[in-house]
Amino acid sequence: MIQLKDGVTWVGAVDWDIRNFHGYITHRGTSYNAYIVQGEKTALVDTVKAPFYETMLRHIEEVVDPKDLDYIVANHAEPDHSGALTRIAKKAPDAKIVTSDRGIPVLKKYYGDMDLISIKEMPQVDLGGKTLSFTPVPMAHWPDSMVSYIPEDKLLLSNDAFGQHIASTARFNDEVDQAVLWQEATAYYANILMPLSRTVNNAIKALAGLDIEMIAPSHGIVWRKDIGDILAAYTRWVGGETRPRAVIAYDSMWKSTQEMAYAIAEGVSSTGVETRVFNLTETHRSDIITEIMEARAVLVGSPTLNNHVYPTVAGFLAYMRGLKPQNKIGAAFGSYGWAGGAKRFVEEQMKLAGVELVENDLDFSYKPTEEEWRKCYEFGAMMGERIIS
Ligand code: FEO
Repeated sequence: MIQLKDGVTWVGAVDWDIRNFHGYITHRGTSYNAYIVQGEKTALVDTVKAPFYETMLRHIEEVVDPKDLDYIVANHAEPDHSGALTRIAKKAPDAKIVTSDRGIPVLKKYYGDMDLISIKEMPQVDLGGKTLSFTPVPMAHWPDSMVSYIPEDKLLLSNDAFGQHIASTARFNDEVDQAVLWQEATAYYANILMPLSRTVNNAIKALAGLDIEMIAPSHGIVWRKDIGDILAAYTRWVGGETRPRAVIAYDSMWKSTQEMAYAIAEGVSSTGVETRVFNLTETHRSDIITEIMEARAVLVGSPTLNNHVYPTVAGFLAYMRGLKPQNKIGAAFGSYGWAGGAKRFVEEQMKLAGVELVENDLDFSYKPTEEEWRKCYEFGAMMGERIIS
């Protein structure tokens, strides 16, 4: 079994196969991390998604007999962490189940009536040689979210915060490919926590007084080396910091909108701005949002289909609107046959997503002419200048 610290053991489960986590494409699977914390008494912090109960149980039994558990801590009621709670609780009849005040009704709604102790009553648990100290972090990720801190080990069991969806036999951040780790940490923030940046910032402030040497989230890899890097990244992300990058997301029926997207991309990149283009049929919206999070500009192109927006573009706009990327300038463009409509819809939705729109008349019938291609290029170049100005 993998020990994080003396008396703190990982007993979670790796989900190698999951590729869709409530609408977010998880190319590399994930893990549900649970931890046994042992002093004179023993606690289980978090559980796993229901189908992984047996795996977790096997891991727990390698460390302790479950009937000897004194506490089970439910940092978060979402079923990826609480799905095995009732079954492990049956194996541990003497264990007190501790959760946040706001977690109590949620756990009861999911799993029926059970005895639960609020962290208002029990803000910390003295295990004898180890302490579990609880801090509510509402809306990082759900209203009930909380974290557990072990001061003796300077170890934060952070639940969803600081996680990544990575399935791996490695458990620590100095054991994995750094590019993969950071790609997945960024994707995780963009697709899960970005719309909650204000409350995640509150959580970071609530934890500011803690002396933290290791952060063990409930998904993916444990941060034990250079933890300042992930804390700095979260500070940038909650603040909506951007870099000179433009993301162009489009779809196309007969390649007219595609030609426009490519022309705009050439224009933007002529100013030296990093430019990335994604076709919305070929690339999943969650991967595009990851690219958008740190970009300064987002441009969205759609053909008009049946006097309306193209369906993949509509889906992407709904996703972006929900995730509320911060500090973006942007623009819409598109092509149509005999009647338009898509560009106006895209603009409305981008405004609702909080994007500061740059007006343009890039709405062309049938196929862009040479002159219209040039207009796209020049608009792209103008956007590039705005991005770096
Ligand atoms: Fe990983 Fe909000 O659950």
